[in-house]
Amino acid sequence: MRTQVGIVGAGPAGLLLSHLLHLEGIRSVVLEARSREYVEQRVRAGVLEQGTVELLTDTGLGDRLHREGLVHHGVELRFEGEGHRIDLSALTGGRTITIYGQQEVVKDLIAARERDGGDIRFEVEDVAVDGLKTDRPTIAFTHDGEHGTLECDVIAGCDGFHGICRPSIPAGELTEYDRTYPFGWLGILARAAPSSDELIYVNHPRGFALSSLRSPEIVRLYLQCEPDEDVDRWSDERIWEELHTRLATTDGDYELTEGPIFEKGVAALRSFVVEPMQYGRLFLAGDAAHIVPATGAKGLNLAVADVRRLSEGLVQLFGSGRSDLLEDYSRACLRRVWRVQHFSWWMTSMLHRFGDDRYQHKLQISELEYVTSSTAAATTLAENYVGLPL
Ligand code: FAD
Ligand code: PHB
Repeated sequence: MRTQVGIVGAGPAGLLLSHLLHLEGIRSVVLEARSREYVEQRVRAGVLEQGTVELLTDTGLGDRLHREGLVHHGVELRFEGEGHRIDLSALTGGRTITIYGQQEVVKDLIAARERDGGDIRFEVEDVAVDGLKTDRPTIAFTHDGEHGTLECDVIAGCDGFHGICRPSIPAGELTEYDRTYPFGWLGILARAAPSSDELIYVNHPRGFALSSLRSPEIVRLYLQCEPDEDVDRWSDERIWEELHTRLATTDGDYELTEGPIFEKGVAALRSFVVEPMQYGRLFLAGDAAHIVPATGAKGLNLAVADVRRLSEGLVQLFGSGRSDLLEDYSRACLRRVWRVQHFSWWMTSMLHRFGDDRYQHKLQISELEYVTSSTAAATTLAENYVGLPL
């Protein structure tokens, strides 16, 4: 088998890359370890930056996104029992974020690739990349019990943090930077009307909480927990009780609406970057190259920014044979990656409970007071949150 771009992974990065390349007449094959049902149901991100929405819209993926996505103009920071609104739009010249589940983006992308005759193979096994330093790199895999080899011009490693592409690069070629946090998030989806129109990020003495949503009927709520928390220790009653405690306001005006919980999961928080994001003809994009803690709502958006750049480099390569954009891919991506790393680390540091560190808690409150009272500080949060220009 032969294609121009072999893509490992059908998450947002791999699927969007395949779609962008198709629009430019470049052929690709996507190889995905999981089933289609699995990737379409996997519950993850929910916040799209305006730049992400614009890119999806401009490339024909905006129909359902604009029908079902919820446009937000602000977020709330809640601490010491009081809410403070950050007016994202007023602080950024009218920019917004859109609430639209990552799995909805994935469904739209798969539908578009299917409509356009795209080649996505689900449930492939034994994926292995080779010949990365040649101009004919290959991907070996097993599909439906048969071995195959895909010969490519370029390979895109879009296989997430636990994929095989990054570990296929010889030891010593990459530098890794990482930070793990002494906590994770317990996330739920529940059938209930949102208690607030906007997202609420809470710094509470018992730990961080986040109130988000997916639709006027479905809420997405998170609680800071142990990094290896056993989700079975959290009955629905315990989850609601803890959410009530952490989200409560001193004036008692806030009322959290409960409803049946239909999804529960724990995710660890981590920061991770690998440099460079390229080895020969293998280009890493999205979570395969970097992870951010979810507090900044950036992971999906960063994956989109990567593949946009990668597709531009590939268009140049296949169009004119020039490779200066591709050679600059890693450097250009990493500038945004590190900005987003800092923002996500900062939001995480400001909002979570760090054990019994009372000094840190005092610093957090001071910083939150500053961010919610100084236009300069609030603007820093707002312009990073809505996303810096692509
Ligand atoms: P992935 O989505 O991980 O896709 C990689 C794909 O590769 C997967 O389908 C996987 O099955 C496949 N794969 C792996 N190994 C192989 C292999 N060997 N062969 C073939 N295929 C393979 N981001 C935001 O922007 N905003 C948010 O609000 C947000 N909230 C989050 C909340 C939670 C609880 C979590 C966990 C994450 C959140 N993120 C958020 C992060 C976001 O979900 C990720 O950054 C995003 O999924 C990255 O996309 P990706 O395509 O790079 O990787
Ligand atoms: C979500 O809705 O899943 C969500 C929102 C904001 C975040 C992280 C996750 O920072």
